[in-house]
Amino acid sequence: MTILLLSGSPSSPSRSARLLNFIGERLNELGQRTVSLHVRDLPAQALLHADFSDPELLAAKALLAKAEAIVIATPIYKAAYSGLLKSFLDILPQDGLDGKIVLPVATGGSQSHMLALDYGLRPVLAALSARHILSSIYATDSQVVWTDGQGLQLDDAISRRVQDGTHLLLDSLVSLQRGKPAGQAVQSPILNGLPC
Ligand SMILES: Cc1cc2nc3c(=O)[nH]c(=O)nc-3n(C[C@H](O)[C@H](O)[C@H](O)COP(=O)(O)O)c2cc1C
Repeated sequence: MTILLLSGSPSSPSRSARLLNFIGERLNELGQRTVSLHVRDLPAQALLHADFSDPELLAAKALLAKAEAIVIATPIYKAAYSGLLKSFLDILPQDGLDGKIVLPVATGGSQSHMLALDYGLRPVLAALSARHILSSIYATDSQVVWTDGQGLQLDDAISRRVQDGTHLLLDSLVSLQRGKPAGQAVQSPILNGLPC
């Protein structure tokens, strides 16, 4: 089984990509195989022109097609997921996420747009036929801090969300392997772990 770590941030370095990478490392520790795809590394013109024949876009789509699960990370831009991520989702076929388990992840400047993943991204993932969309993980910039000396520091609430998210992902993969329906998604996930 392969888990694709899909980054939709145009920035480098990227806070959401670092959180995604951290989640990937936790999944590796749990014995899972991960592969990474940064949409910002794909050819911009081919993406913007929706050039379905571009070899790098075809290779990226093939990588996604082979994965059983996807962790999708995006920054929040203008109260929505990034346009770069949208440009990639737009070139997927209508059933591009068929049978896949998806864990949505976002970082944003404030808590004001914590619902953006559930209102904006989740319906698109469902339209692409994702099998099971797990509880989202939303972190504000102050909850995800990078220093050169210490690397990525997560606050306690986000650490717990990451732990819960990775274990839910594994449970769903096990269910998938056994041919059982994936477990019930939590309906108000991004509220978990955030201060009220
Ligand atoms: C163009 C732009 C628009 C942004 N819009 C929002 C926004 O609407 N809501 C929010 O909470 N943060 C917003 N932010 C802050 C980013 O979402 C936040 O800093 C995020 O962690 C950046 O992730 P990245 O480093 O992976 O790109 C915006 C940042 C930029 C550059």
